[in-house]
Formats: sequence, C-alpha cells, structure tokens
Amino acid sequence: MEYRTFGQSGLQVPVVGMGTWQTFDVRGEAAEANARSIVDAALKAQANFFDSSPMYGQAERVLGKALEGRREQAFVATKVWASTADEGRKQIANALRYYGNRVDLYQIHNLLAWRDQLMLLEQLVAEKRVGLIGATHYSSSAFNELSRVMKTGRIQAIQIPYNPQEREVEKVILPLAADLNLGVVVMRPFGEGRLMRNPPTESELAPLKPFGVTTWAQALLKWILSDPRCHVAIPATSKASRMT
Ligand SMILES: NC(=O)c1ccc[n+]([C@@H]2O[C@H](COP(=O)([O-])OP(=O)(O)OC[C@H]3O[C@@H](n4cnc5c(N)ncnc54)[C@H](OP(=O)(O)O)[C@@H]3O)[C@@H](O)[C@H]2O)c1
Repeated sequence: MEYRTFGQSGLQVPVVGMGTWQTFDVRGEAAEANARSIVDAALKAQANFFDSSPMYGQAERVLGKALEGRREQAFVATKVWASTADEGRKQIANALRYYGNRVDLYQIHNLLAWRDQLMLLEQLVAEKRVGLIGATHYSSSAFNELSRVMKTGRIQAIQIPYNPQEREVEKVILPLAADLNLGVVVMRPFGEGRLMRNPPTESELAPLKPFGVTTWAQALLKWILSDPRCHVAIPATSKASRMT
C-alpha cells in the first residue's frame, strides 16, 4: 500500500481506505459478520482508513463492532451531522463509545451547523479525544460555503466527491486545499456504483496493465490518486473480495 502525507497534519494515510454508507447499515449476526470480513480484508491490504457517519444508520456502530479488539490498527474518520450543538454532543458521545474514546478525524457532515459543531470538536481536540477536524459536502452547490470553512484555518481536512464524471472540485476546492495544505478524502470514487455498471472489457483495459491496473475499479482509483492533491479514496463495498 502506498501512503501519503495527509496535509498539514503530517500523518501518513493509505491512498485507499473504505466508506461505509449503505454497505455497513446492516443488522443481524450474518450481516455484521460480513462487515467484519470486509474490515479484515481492508486491514490485510493496509487500507486502514475507515469513514462513517451517524447519517448512515447502523454503520458507525457496525464499524465499531468490526474493529473490536483491533481499534488501534485503524484510522477512524466519522462525522457529526446535527443541526444543534446538543444533538451533536449526543452523536459524538455515541461515536466515542464505539471507537474506544478516540476519533482520528471528526468531520462536519454537509457543513450542518458548522460553527456550533466546530466549537465542540475543538474542545475534543484539546482533550485529545479527537485527532483532526474536517468538513465534508457531497454537492458542488455548497462549495462556496466549504471554501469559507476551509479558509477559517480551523479545519485540517476536507472530504469531497471526485471521479471522472464529477470534476467540479478541480476548479476551486482542490487548488485551495493544496494552498492551505489540507488533507483531502475522496468520496464516491465509483460515482456511488454508477461508474461500475458498464465497465470496459478486458482488452480495453489491457493498455493499463504496465501500470499494474487490471480491473476497472483499480483504473478509477488510479485516476483519482494520480492527482497528488488527493490523499485517500474511500470506495464502499459489501463484498470482502472487492475490498481486496
Ligand atoms: N455518496 C455520498 O454522497 C457520500 C457523502 C459523504 C460521504 N460519503 C462516503 O464516501 C464513501 C464512498 O462513496 P459511496 O459509497 O457513495 O460510493 P462509491 O464508493 O463510489 O461506490 C460504491 C458502490 O460501488 C460498488 N462497488 C464497489 N467496488 C466494486 C467493484 N470492484 N466492482 C463493482 N462494483 C463495486 C459497491 O457495490 P457492492 O457493495 O456490490 O460492491 C457500491 O454500490 C461512502 O461509503 C461514505 O463513507 C459518500
């Protein structure tokens, strides 16, 4: 696994991690065992950057359970997604319980009530229960606001969508992130799965073989990571073999 320096934090992160939206929103023994096997595959491949959110139903809890007994091997990035500080406090208390009283990167999901949540998170950084603070948005309509938050100097990372069909971040967000030396997490590397529906044939992929690329998923990840301003891409999957 290749590692990159995650902006001003100086931390080394793997170029590929894992998302949990939908795929980890599961209940029951069999489904949770499957989630654990996906985490096994991720850790084995050293893709130990895990992203979640209270917006993803059961995902935060299921990820916490899948990391039981090996939390220290993981870099946990989760989110606060709350319109009030009170609700934010409750979400954060749950997440700290799931992740051994420590979240490595705490992101403000969709910039919701970001001023309130930023104050809460800064307090947790002072208490060493949170490592870094980030902000995320999935929609380019919010990129002006995201730029404003980035320029406050109070966050160390962003999470944004980037794939060959969604390139809006190239205009302002990625150059600004590079100027400010922020960590960049790339969500939706496969366009929420849309880009995987009609993959190129084996012979169409053949010219990429000299670069170590034999699958369409690898090609899409390499496309993102060929931009050094992107540090970690976080595809989601419900299948351990695909994680590998
Ligand atoms: N979407 C958003 O708006 C959003 C917002 C904020 C944060 N995030 C974070 O970013 C993460 C990634 O984004 P995402 O989950 O929206 O989408 P994504 O990673 O672009 O795509 C996930 C989809 O791709 C499929 N897939 C994965 N590997 C595959 C392979 N090798 N071959 C064929 N299909 C494959 C998965 O299906 P299978 O399960 O069948 O493999 C899944 O349906 C999220 O999980 C979340 O943590 C997303």
